[in-house]
Amino acid sequence: MTESSFSDQFAGLKRAAQESKKRTLNQLFEESSDRSENYSFRLKGLNFDFSKTHINQSLLTEFEKLALDSGLLQQRDKLLTGGIVNPTEKRPALHADMRSATPITAEIESQRRACYQFAEKVRQAEIAPTCGGRYQHIIHLGIGGSALGPQLLLDALAYGQTGATKQAEPSFNTHCIANIDGHALEPVMQICDPNRTLVIVASKTFTTTETLSNANTVIDWMCSQGIENPLSQIVAVTASPNKAKSFGIAEDHILTFPEGLGGRYSIWSSVSLAAMISIGTEAFESMRLGAQKMDEHFAQAPVKENIPIIAAMLDIWYGNAWGAPTRALFAYDSRLEMLVNYLQQLEMENNGKNISRTGEAIQWQSSPILWGGVGTDAQHAVFQLMHQGTHLTPVEFLAVIQTEHSLEGHHKCLLANCFAQSAALMKGRTYAEAEALLPANIQSTEERDLLAKSKVFSGNRPSTTIVLDALSPESFGMLIAFYEHRSFVSGTLWQINVFDQMGVELGKELAKKYQKAIETGDTTPISAELDSSTERLLNLVLD
Ligand code: F6P
Repeated sequence: MTESSFSDQFAGLKRAAQESKKRTLNQLFEESSDRSENYSFRLKGLNFDFSKTHINQSLLTEFEKLALDSGLLQQRDKLLTGGIVNPTEKRPALHADMRSATPITAEIESQRRACYQFAEKVRQAEIAPTCGGRYQHIIHLGIGGSALGPQLLLDALAYGQTGATKQAEPSFNTHCIANIDGHALEPVMQICDPNRTLVIVASKTFTTTETLSNANTVIDWMCSQGIENPLSQIVAVTASPNKAKSFGIAEDHILTFPEGLGGRYSIWSSVSLAAMISIGTEAFESMRLGAQKMDEHFAQAPVKENIPIIAAMLDIWYGNAWGAPTRALFAYDSRLEMLVNYLQQLEMENNGKNISRTGEAIQWQSSPILWGGVGTDAQHAVFQLMHQGTHLTPVEFLAVIQTEHSLEGHHKCLLANCFAQSAALMKGRTYAEAEALLPANIQSTEERDLLAKSKVFSGNRPSTTIVLDALSPESFGMLIAFYEHRSFVSGTLWQINVFDQMGVELGKELAKKYQKAIETGDTTPISAELDSSTERLLNLVLD
């Protein structure tokens, strides 16, 4: 689709928004008793309720037209059949292939088998510390996509290992360290027994400064603690095995994954080794099969029933036609506390771009800023703005019906809060309703007026609610695949190359130069390229 034809479609979405603005969400519900049923979808154990958005049948038809006219469906098929969808790096994007029953990429199966075997051997103490017994601690070193996936996965699915309920097997204490900041790594080294610590160095490129520096520091720490061969306790997970070998890691301690798997999608690979060790490879396999079900739905469902496509089109509609600059996500489940961080990388590295796949400057807003937190914490911090602020912020609520904890009463309260927030955002409160709530002893008219006005809620604020029957490996896999496809659809419609991330490089290049200046105490080799602010900042450290 050419730029102008996309703009035409965009105009169509804008017109639909103008039309929709004539009716509030409350009115839409009053007009149709089937609304919630019509705009809710269930797939296996996942429920998606879009009815508290301004969605309607003609908008769905508009979405369908956009999907057909834009070539979205061809791009989707290209993605799912291993075509080149990343033109700058001339690569496919293999995340769906990683969970396919029939992967196109030959090496995927054997890489997965090697990883499963390694994880099970650690669980069974066949790969064990030289002092005997089983590893107790796992230090996972990696950053960005090489950290966020395993962190999220461990939080989401290892509750039984770390929480109070199931303790069938002794747990591994896993510590994920991403940052180069020594405040992050030092406390971990202080609590780990170096003799019983397995270290996972996760880096797709095996060139990332933070990860390799942390790995060297951990090796030094092990040596200082009398470990004779620290490298025997280190395993590399990477798409660059030669670099891991050059680092000194033995071949049988290198677990690989394909180059065509983006870092932010590497949760499906050996990057999740720490989680596989904790939750077991059977659980990991269920997660993979869950994702496969979402892939099938994405590939086969008609546009008007295709959950990732509808979600993405609504994102585009609210962002580009209603002008919402951000989107918020609140998971009412502490096991999913990391989800926002995980999705921030996924969505903002995917779609935070300003040129098209063919290099033209795009003329529309691309990725909205994604932010959020967990309920109910966030209610006591940021929800003021959600309810009465001047921004339009489409919200996504996420809740899980079954719990793994055994504390009476907590979950009912949690779910009630989740559902209350979306209802409050939609319903609002009128001046008359607010006035009626004021205590009779406030008699001054001005005071009553001010108070009533401050208690008015405009309402009509859109939200989507996703409810999982349970947070199982399968539903978790489906959920992550849903977000992956949703982000792909948005980026494709914005005509973006979803799968590169050149925007992270410039800062890295400058940091290398500045680090050298700080280490040598001399900024003169780079003084010609320093602006006065940066030079002054560097001198604060050097002085
Ligand atoms: O700097 C961004 C980034 O390249 C991410 O895309 C990636 O997930 C992360 O750094 C870590 O990269 P690597 O796995 O190669 O260490």
